[in-house]
Amino acid sequence: MPENIDPITLRRPDDWHVHLRDGVMLAAVLPFTIRQFARAIVMPNLVPPVADVAAAYAYRERIRAALPLGSDFAPLMTCYLTDTTEPEEVARGYEKGVFTAVKLYPAWATTNSAFGVIDYDRITPVLECMAGLGMPLLIHGEVTDPEVDVFDRESVFIDRVLDPLRRRLPELRIVLEHITTKEAVDYVTSAGPNLAATITAHHLVINRNAIFAGGIRPHLYCLPIAKREKHRLALRRAATSGDERFFLGTDSAPHAFPTKETACGCAGIFTAPCALEIYAEVFEEEAALDRLEAFASLNGPQFYRLPPNDARITLRRESFTVPQRIGEGDRAVVPFRAGETLRWRLQV
Ligand code: NCD
Ligand code: ZN
Repeated sequence: MPENIDPITLRRPDDWHVHLRDGVMLAAVLPFTIRQFARAIVMPNLVPPVADVAAAYAYRERIRAALPLGSDFAPLMTCYLTDTTEPEEVARGYEKGVFTAVKLYPAWATTNSAFGVIDYDRITPVLECMAGLGMPLLIHGEVTDPEVDVFDRESVFIDRVLDPLRRRLPELRIVLEHITTKEAVDYVTSAGPNLAATITAHHLVINRNAIFAGGIRPHLYCLPIAKREKHRLALRRAATSGDERFFLGTDSAPHAFPTKETACGCAGIFTAPCALEIYAEVFEEEAALDRLEAFASLNGPQFYRLPPNDARITLRRESFTVPQRIGEGDRAVVPFRAGETLRWRLQV
């Protein structure tokens, strides 16, 4: 690998998919996201879900109240789509600048998705309304059919749900979130400009073997679950390709460690403390550091039709050890790559 000791300067990046949670957890994890990112698409899977304008407005106020004085971090809110979401509510939220996008979780696909979509026919009016507005639909792309192998749920979703949906509504602008398979990469690459995808830092680093290396590793369990090595390599090629339809979304999803280190642990990997540093490591390994800015700071705003950030950040080649835990007691969260030393560090 070529030694690159020059610092990297980028336009300030954004995180196009993050779980900030609420209450005490929000206060604990928000500083990590705002250290790295200027804006973030905030997932609505709270309990109860953020499914109308009033809930999103109130949640945004709670996030803003948790920001340190003087922070210019901008939370971009999403509407949790249910079978009964009204098109008028979505349009009103979008026009008022409360909703940036709508999030589709298939019911029971992942954490707090029990209110998600069951009947795709029932959401057609909302999707038609969004297509008219140019409002993005963000999709957790996994089928929930228990007959389908957990490692195939993303590719089967593309065939059974996403492709028919796009054929019915080609003008709808869609982000396939946190893609994990070569099939998803190929599908997005073969589609037009109305389909994009986010890629997490962890799916660029681990394959499914990592979840079982020397014993079961609950902190590497997330949904969609990491796949075979060939898929990780396809994701690395997509992220570093310069193709503007692929951009950064960490899916940083903190869970307090007692809910991870247990007989039936939650899905979610907490990458916020070191996400950008990991992306930099991956781009360096792929000899594509010159494309990191497009992936992290330009392609996302372009898809969301927002201006890129004016401010710049600097990453220095400096070793940095990821903390073992963030927070105290039963509320502590174990970050991705806890205790490991990374090669890049964001300067603040
Ligand atoms: C997310 C969470 O914990 O909210 N978990 C995860 O594994 N990514 C939900 C999600 O985005 O699927
Ligand atoms: Zn997520």
